[in-house]
Amino acid sequence: MSQAPVAPRPKKRSKPEAGFSRREEARFQDVRIFLVERKMGRSRRSFLTQLARSKGFIVEDILSDAVTHVVSENSQSSSLWAWLKGFSLSDPSTVNVVDISWFTDSMREGRPVAVETRHLIQDILPEAPKAAPVNKVSQYACQRRTTTENYNKIFTDAFEVLAENYEFNDIEGRCLAFRRAASVLKSLPSAVQCVEATQDLPCLGEHTKAVMKEILQYGRSFEVEKILSDLRCQTLKLFTSVFGVGPKTAEKWYRRGLRSFSDVLAEPSIHLNRMQQSGFLHYGDISRAVSKAEAQAVGNIIDEAVHVITPNAILALTGGFRRGKDFGHDVDFIVTTPELGQEESLLIDVIDYLKKQGLLLFTDHQASTFDISKLPSHKFEAMDHFAKCFLILRLESSQVEGGLQRSEGDSRNWRAVRVDLVSPPMDRYAFTQLGWTGSRMFERDLRRFARLERQMLLDNHALYDKTKKEFLTATTEKDIFDHLGLEYIEPWQRNA
Ligand code: UTP
Ligand code: MG
Repeated sequence: MSQAPVAPRPKKRSKPEAGFSRREEARFQDVRIFLVERKMGRSRRSFLTQLARSKGFIVEDILSDAVTHVVSENSQSSSLWAWLKGFSLSDPSTVNVVDISWFTDSMREGRPVAVETRHLIQDILPEAPKAAPVNKVSQYACQRRTTTENYNKIFTDAFEVLAENYEFNDIEGRCLAFRRAASVLKSLPSAVQCVEATQDLPCLGEHTKAVMKEILQYGRSFEVEKILSDLRCQTLKLFTSVFGVGPKTAEKWYRRGLRSFSDVLAEPSIHLNRMQQSGFLHYGDISRAVSKAEAQAVGNIIDEAVHVITPNAILALTGGFRRGKDFGHDVDFIVTTPELGQEESLLIDVIDYLKKQGLLLFTDHQASTFDISKLPSHKFEAMDHFAKCFLILRLESSQVEGGLQRSEGDSRNWRAVRVDLVSPPMDRYAFTQLGWTGSRMFERDLRRFARLERQMLLDNHALYDKTKKEFLTATTEKDIFDHLGLEYIEPWQRNA
């Protein structure tokens, strides 16, 4: 739930990885790809170019004799060949002219796959369904690469409404089913154009497909519209949007006949806890998304505080902003120290420092309950045992590059921002970073994969091999992926 306190992921001192900014070294020298912009569109071409380069493929900007694979999308072979003739290639017959399915297969495999008949451009009949077969998508989010680019938002938004409604009604299984389905669709490289195109996709049941069908046919889902217009659902959504108010409290208030914030605030028998009081006090600000520039400014503030206190402290961005999101509900950071044990007092000192600067509007510090002798934990707990704090920070407009985005009529030169800090011992850093980077679905499937496919237990503290009866050590996230026998997935590919 977005209102639940979530520790912010620390920023690394380096810039947060955003988008496909990193170009991997070219790994496959024998393959040179050219993406045809016609039909594909410029922005998609540029997205796919960056995706491929990030995986070590060479993508040429210009079609020349050096190109080995010409990739096009939705093209008819006759018109494509006619177009190719316009380039004076010395021997066009030596070039592989392939459909986007070859490209997506290669991206999925992480290497150029052999060209098969199904990859060749077919002449599409005008009435033929546009669906490119999307097979071999893993049921585990940790085996899919999911960027922030969501081509199926129209469906995933609807699934999110349904999932939340099941959550409000305590029907966990169905809630999860819709979240899983949304997660699969988010990983696809293009929009689903017809329900038939989903037949090889995992995690899509009859109900999800029926919703998709309706959306494809009418542009909306009647079930979703009904939920959105339902008074109970609207009220629970409103109440849970307050910091510190979870579904249980929201339900309790609803059952007492409360329907609005003023109802809640005017009810004398309701005692708001400190978090909820701050939630109402700063509601306008903290219910508004935090931008990347604002997150960057928060990072500068935390960076100063942490390093004034402990010059060799380690600060890293985590959470949604580390995954390259443009907006978030909070900013998450990990802070720790190279010396084991020194991290214990770090958060308290950081809080003190920020308080003295007049920057703290709310603090909830939770001391560490981490006890290595209690590992491995067989039951996953939503919150880990590391020291953490949930903060509301005052951010001045002057600290933000380009200034704050103000809502109309707001003449203040500051805003409140939710910030979470978590402080694990250094030897737990990789597990914490992996656990806090999210997304929640990605984390959930990492744990499920570890348990079901590898007989291992993973959480934010450790990785335990049940077969060998031993803990596996890790200093980087990559070590953990390696132990699990998983291909490394970059943070910006974990937006499952
Ligand atoms: P957030 O709720 O901050 O989500 O949790 P987010 O992905 O950054 O997206 P925004 O903030 O809504 O934009 C970040 C991650 O931290 C984990 C959560 O499971 C999530 O994956 N987390 C949070 C923990 O592992 N332990 C905690 O105690 C709190
Ligand atoms: Mg976050």
